[in-house]
Amino acid sequence: MASSSMHQLSFTRHPLLPRDSRLQPRLQFSSVRFPSFSVRASSALAVEPDTGTQKDQTLEVEIFSCPICYEPLLRRGPSGLNLEAVYRSGFKCKNCNKSYSSKNNFLDLTLTAGLRDYVEVKPARTELFRSPLVSFLYERGWRQNFNRSGFPGQDEEFKMAQEYFKPAEGGLLVDVSCGSGLFSRKFAKSGTYSGVIALDYSENMLRQCYDFIKQDDAVLNANLALVRADVSRLPFSSGSVDAVHAGAALHCWPSPSNAIAEITRVLRSGGVFVGTTFLRYTPSTPWIILPFRQRTSQNYSYLTAEEIEDLCTSCGLTNYTRKIQQSFIMFSAQKP
Ligand SMILES: C[S@@+](CC[C@H](N)C(=O)[O-])C[C@H]1O[C@@H](n2cnc3c(N)ncnc32)[C@H](O)[C@@H]1O
Repeated sequence: MASSSMHQLSFTRHPLLPRDSRLQPRLQFSSVRFPSFSVRASSALAVEPDTGTQKDQTLEVEIFSCPICYEPLLRRGPSGLNLEAVYRSGFKCKNCNKSYSSKNNFLDLTLTAGLRDYVEVKPARTELFRSPLVSFLYERGWRQNFNRSGFPGQDEEFKMAQEYFKPAEGGLLVDVSCGSGLFSRKFAKSGTYSGVIALDYSENMLRQCYDFIKQDDAVLNANLALVRADVSRLPFSSGSVDAVHAGAALHCWPSPSNAIAEITRVLRSGGVFVGTTFLRYTPSTPWIILPFRQRTSQNYSYLTAEEIEDLCTSCGLTNYTRKIQQSFIMFSAQKP
């Protein structure tokens, strides 16, 4: 049971909505009272108001959880994982008494969401991708350049990932560190999953993501949500996610060990993690240059294939497999 306060504060029109839409209000929590709830289910938790006062409102405890305490958030607004429903909803953690809402076109679920004074600065390998220029260039040449290091190209990578994700078909997929959303859009369009969450720390990547989504009606109407979050603090309850994809991301994370532990936490039993990254050494790296490829001398956190396996297994993931081509590795592991 829970009770809380709620108030309609802002009425920003979502760019996807028509000008005269009756669905414009973006709800934020502050002073009108929530009714009490009874929770009925455990994953996409439906919440039924106990009082008769707001019977026409949909109130849900969400797949989204509080990044502070990991309790499912309460949602005020339309249910669903599509862009419009998430944009028009306000979210609140009843434990932490903190509210979350969409800024621009994504839902901000970072620990720093809504802070006025404190600004978090991450390592350069994370900050680089927050730049508007890098976000703009990412799918306009930057990503394609990875092929020179052995990445097989987006279509092939997508096909390979889909193979690994077979045990997670029909479930919820989180594309962690989605960048401009090149794979999130493919996962959403494939119809393989009940929902896809494109998640990144970079506001500008998420804006770019939205710009690409807008250009394709099939993606725009899919169950695809845009969320800002830190991979080391994923806003989902433990065991609530079926599949986690992390394309070309591990080397950009501030702490690969925190990230993989967190991915393991949110995966359900049987859930699948698939990642790609650049390796520190390729099978053909001459021994003479190995000392120059030490982690300490690099901006990015390039690991070896053995280190990645070590991290996954030490977090309790099993069935580790990998495919390597030059510096490219795609690995997969499963939550037992
Ligand atoms: C090289 S891009 C990969 C984009 C895309 N997944 C792909 O396959 O091309 C790496 C992404 O990791 C994101 N990233 C870096 N640090 C992160 C963090 N702490 N939490 C979530 N995402 C992060 C960056 O913002 C960037 O979009």
